[in-house]
This record gives sequence, C-alpha cells and structure tokens, in this order.
Amino acid sequence: MKQASKRLPPVLLTVFLGVFALGAWVPTSASADNATFSEKVLPILTKHCSECHAKGGAGEQASGLDLTSYEGVMKGTTHGPIIVPGDAFLSNIMVLIEGRAGPELKMPHGRKDLTRWEKTLLRRWINRGAQNN
Ligand code: HEC
Repeated sequence: MKQASKRLPPVLLTVFLGVFALGAWVPTSASADNATFSEKVLPILTKHCSECHAKGGAGEQASGLDLTSYEGVMKGTTHGPIIVPGDAFLSNIMVLIEGRAGPELKMPHGRKDLTRWEKTLLRRWINRGAQNN
C-alpha cells in the first residue's frame, strides 16, 4: 500500500504535463482554423501573386486571373474557377502552388515557393468553404 502511493505522484505529473502540452497546442491549430480571406488569404496572394495577377500583369493578361480581390479569386481564369469550395485538393490554385501540375506550371512562376504555413492557411480557408470573410 505504502509503495503504491509513493509511485502515484510521477504518474500524476505525466498526466498534468500531457494536459498542459495539449493546452499549448490547441490555440495554435485554432489560429489556422480562423484563416479568413481578408486577414490571411489576401495578404498571401498580394505578397506572392499580385505582381503578375493584377490588371495588366503578365499572369492576368495570359490567363484572365486577377488575384487582388475575392471576386477575382472566385471568378478564376478565362477557362473557369480555380477554387472548389470545401476541397483544397481539387482546387486548381493548390494544384499549381503545390507543383502537382508539373514544375513549369508551378506558381508563383519563377519565384520563391510559399511557405508551408502559407499553404496550410490557403488549404484551411478553401476546405472551410472559401468564404468572403
Ligand atoms: C512572375 C509572374 C507570376 C506570378 C508571381 C504568379 N503567376 Fe500565375 N500565371 C503567370 C502567367 C504568365 C500565367 C499564364 C499561364 C502560364 O504561362 O502558365 C499564370 C497562370 C496562372 C493560373 C492559371 C493556370 C491555367 O490553368 O491556365 C493560375 C491558377 C495561377 N497563375 C495562379 C497563381 C498564384 C496562386 C500565384 C501566387 C501564389 C501566381 N499565379 C503567381 C504568372 C505569374
């Protein structure tokens, strides 16, 4: 009996640390869940895409894709939408950003890749319905 009670504290400590670690992890994932268009998505597109995908830019001229507004993003190219709300995997914008259509078609063209975190935010926003939020 005496021995069992002596072994208890380390177990409690482990449980406590586990709960504590979980508590520290949850807010991080919640901030990606709050990936809104205005606060997260548009700044990423402005940084990596607007140079070519704004009115008169090389990408906009070639494909009709204007990535400077929600309306432009949802309208897509002259061939149609690049976003499938609720499905980032099928969305052409992610196919190109992730290089799944081949290296020549990878976006942004000839520029540095998006960071993993930026891709995660875009994916979350699309998977949560690609809303104008
Ligand atoms: C340096 C210029 C440049 C940058 C930066 C750029 N693009 Fe493009 N983009 C182009 C050009 C040019 C085209 C026309 C098609 C081609 O040449 O591949 C294009 C075409 C596209 C298309 C249509 C492809 C198709 O189906 O025809 C998508 C979608 C696209 N870009 C997304 C993006 C996204 C998202 C970003 C930012 C992450 C981005 N682009 C950044 C130049 C650029």
